[in-house]
Amino acid sequence: MTELSRGAAAARYSAIAIVLHWTIAALIVLQVALSGRMEARTPEAFAVTQFHKSVGITILLLSLARLAWRLTHRPPPEPAALAPWERRLAVAVHWGFYAVMILMPLTGWIMVSTSRFAVPTLLYGAVPWPHLPGLAELAPAAKAMWNEGAEAAHHTIIKGAYVLFGLHVAGALKHHFVDPRTPVLPRMAPGARAGRWWEPRLAAVLLGLGAVTAFGLFYDPPRPAQAAPPPLAPAVETREPGAQAAPAVATPAAAPAPAAAVRWVVQPGSTLGFTTAWSGEPIQGRFDRWTADIVFSPDDLDHSKVTVSIDTASARTGDDQRDASLPAPDWFDTANHPKATFTATRFEKTGEGRFVARGQLSLRGASRPLSLPFRLTIDGDRASVRGVTSLDRTAFGVGQGEWTSTEQIPAKVTVRVDLKARRMSP
Ligand code: HEM
Ligand code: HEM
Repeated sequence: MTELSRGAAAARYSAIAIVLHWTIAALIVLQVALSGRMEARTPEAFAVTQFHKSVGITILLLSLARLAWRLTHRPPPEPAALAPWERRLAVAVHWGFYAVMILMPLTGWIMVSTSRFAVPTLLYGAVPWPHLPGLAELAPAAKAMWNEGAEAAHHTIIKGAYVLFGLHVAGALKHHFVDPRTPVLPRMAPGARAGRWWEPRLAAVLLGLGAVTAFGLFYDPPRPAQAAPPPLAPAVETREPGAQAAPAVATPAAAPAPAAAVRWVVQPGSTLGFTTAWSGEPIQGRFDRWTADIVFSPDDLDHSKVTVSIDTASARTGDDQRDASLPAPDWFDTANHPKATFTATRFEKTGEGRFVARGQLSLRGASRPLSLPFRLTIDGDRASVRGVTSLDRTAFGVGQGEWTSTEQIPAKVTVRVDLKARRMSP
């Protein structure tokens, strides 16, 4: 062993510090490589952002561990020949990095905790991670302020990190090639020999960073599910007459039903679904909670009336993270508009077993005419109804801000009703 390498071996960071250094460095490079793919409002960008959040929180946890380790363990003594300005610059860069390693994830965490889209964080699609306490509950204006501030900080701090990275790597390389009498690389890359042009550890670092960058540029994280799971068995609240004489059905249609048009009770297994698309990929959704007051007879269309009341917070599209943002003001705004209502008062027969229900749909504070063509089969006191219609989501303000654009999500939403009902005994 030469004098130089023996000295270098003695002045080495501990194994824990070394593993944490290279892991965190690789994850930060990965974050930057991923960050260029998060802007678009596509399912891919959504999935990449979820992955970016997961990796970022991992960096936060590792960095806190590393900081704790650093504060309780002295780093190895620096090469004695290091100039005082070099020593000071190195220390400043190192502490600057600690600030970046903690503030980048923190500002990211603030951003997602105050986002209008209220997308929850599920680390690697599996481990729930809370929003920062106190922020998610703020009033919209205060939330927007925090969000903008955190986003600006996230963007600015990373620029500082680029400068630190430049100085850090330049320092490591200078003391490897230009000034090999003050070796620093062996402190973090065990066994490295200063001055060696073909030092394999440098090649490994370069290859490693390249591989991580390529991974970040091309990795396709799992997308949100494309289809909603099959509807739950009792998809609707049924309203059966109770043993008491209490009125079984709610008020909207409670006016005395004319002789011929009779009441129907919706049966479990009925579904109210919708189909849309995101970046050309179909999304099947459904509402889990809705009720219908049905007074209907094919022979007494004039006195038929149907009112469907939909709990807008029950929309499901098969992806928990995406679904958690649907109640937000930009989509269904369930806090202000908890119910959507379709009231059909005009019915036309268009063929054998075929009808059109005409009425108004009130959704998110807008009311628009809507027609629902449907097929009806009646078998004794059982009826089955299948109807499909479409509506323009933008006419109801479903999708605000950048989502008013129909580039990623079309305006047209197809609505599908599959309803089974039982005639209520008089
Ligand atoms: C974003 C990526 C990186 C970050 C955040 C980072 C961060 C750090 C920090 C905080 C330290 C100080 C260790 C401590 O006292 O706790 C350190 C030391 C060191 N880093 Fe990095 N580093 C990164 C990338 C790199 C790269 C690419 C190289 C190699 C070319 C490198 C080489 C070194 C060396 C040789 C040391 C020891 C310096 C000394 O104490 O004399 N680092 N790094
Ligand atoms: C050390 C960890 C992190 C690094 C290095 C990092 C890096 C970046 C970079 C470079 C950007 C692009 C900024 C720009 O366009 O100028 C970005 C954006 C973003 N990051 Fe991070 N990030 C980290 C942690 C996090 C965490 C933990 C979260 C959330 C929990 C997060 C959420 C976001 C979001 C939502 C954006 C998009 C902001 C936008 O709409 O422009 N980041 N990040």
